[in-house]
Amino acid sequence: MTLLWRDTMRAGNSLIDNDHRALLEIINEVEDFLSTPDAIGNIHPILDKLETYTKHHFIREENIMRNIDYPDRLNHLKLHRQLTNTFYGIKSKIIKSSKTKINEENQEEITKLLRHWLINHILGEDLKMKPFLLNAPNM
Ligand SMILES: [Fe+2]
Repeated sequence: MTLLWRDTMRAGNSLIDNDHRALLEIINEVEDFLSTPDAIGNIHPILDKLETYTKHHFIREENIMRNIDYPDRLNHLKLHRQLTNTFYGIKSKIIKSSKTKINEENQEEITKLLRHWLINHILGEDLKMKPFLLNAPNM
């Protein structure tokens, strides 16, 4: 089932929201890919796409936090480093699984990990920025 963007995920800044929506779509692409067994050997480009987009998104988000003088910025930067490390763990798990066989069970596990990875951060941490983003002039 496709992961859908919801208005409740909006952090109140169009750059951040557009990035989050794009990340969600890339995760959907990864999940679609996992359910296409013939294509599984070629999973690297889509994982690289997710990795690159995530890196650029974190830089954009971190610049915005600096611009609005977000009080929890340092903690949030730390969380981004942790998310990056978690992503590498998920990525190697996907690559390892794709070398043997993607079955329904590990497909579900990977799907859960990826969704949890993104959605928990958006809902749990990025949304804390919302009042600051909404009050920031011309952001
Ligand atoms: Fe974030």
